[in-house]
Amino acid sequence: MKHIVFLTGAGMSAESGISTFRDSGGLWEKYDVMEVASIEGWRKNPDLMIKFYNERRAQLDKVAPNDGHKLIAQLENGFKVTVITQNVDNLHERAGSSSVIHLHGELTKVCNESKSEIYDIGTRAVEIGEKASDGSRIRPFIVWFGEAVPLMEKAANIVSNADIIVIIGTSMQVYPAAGLIHYAKRDAKIFLIDPSDVSIPFTSVNVIKQKASDGMRILTEKLIQLP
Ligand code: OAD
Repeated sequence: MKHIVFLTGAGMSAESGISTFRDSGGLWEKYDVMEVASIEGWRKNPDLMIKFYNERRAQLDKVAPNDGHKLIAQLENGFKVTVITQNVDNLHERAGSSSVIHLHGELTKVCNESKSEIYDIGTRAVEIGEKASDGSRIRPFIVWFGEAVPLMEKAANIVSNADIIVIIGTSMQVYPAAGLIHYAKRDAKIFLIDPSDVSIPFTSVNVIKQKASDGMRILTEKLIQLP
């Protein structure tokens, strides 16, 4: 069975109504990225970050997986499929994908300051000043700028074993996630689905210049025809 690895970013969930970060009108035009998505921001103003992530978490109840998420899940009928996502939403899981790695954490989880205890909280709000069992402040289980990405090694290993790699909806600007593609096998087939031009350092990429859902429809047809 061929192994397909999807590398997905914010554009994957755009058609579900979740804003991307760097597009015009994206989240980083409305918020200062360092205030709400960096470890320095947490040290300076944790209350602001609790509110920011409470809003993002609450949004999960109002959105649903789009056809792109669903088509990825459906590919499990003929392929081994692993999703490695930079997204912190749970739309891949809700669409039915069974193997999802969240490089940048998960909105439905929180943890203590040292990240040694992780709690599943679904979509409820964290209270300002809420404490973990070790007395430290509860924080969102999100990998912020300035923090290590603990799942990188696992993700790199998975990419290095993939027969097919599909990049969807990421501007490929945030490292180390954007560097994962360098672990691809020499003969891996690489597809890129994005309505905008995204530069990646490979010449043999099959670009499908479409939104995630239309792009996944086209890709599914192509995959079915592969030998
Ligand atoms: P970006 O906002 O940087 O890039 C979104 C990409 O999605 C762009 O290439 C868009 O062209 C594309 N896009 C927009 N609409 C789309 C659609 N309907 N279908 C498919 N693609 C579409 O988001 P990421 O690359 O995911 O990290 O950002 C990476 C990281 O930066 C995030 O995980 C987040 C952010 O700061 C943290 O907060 C730690």
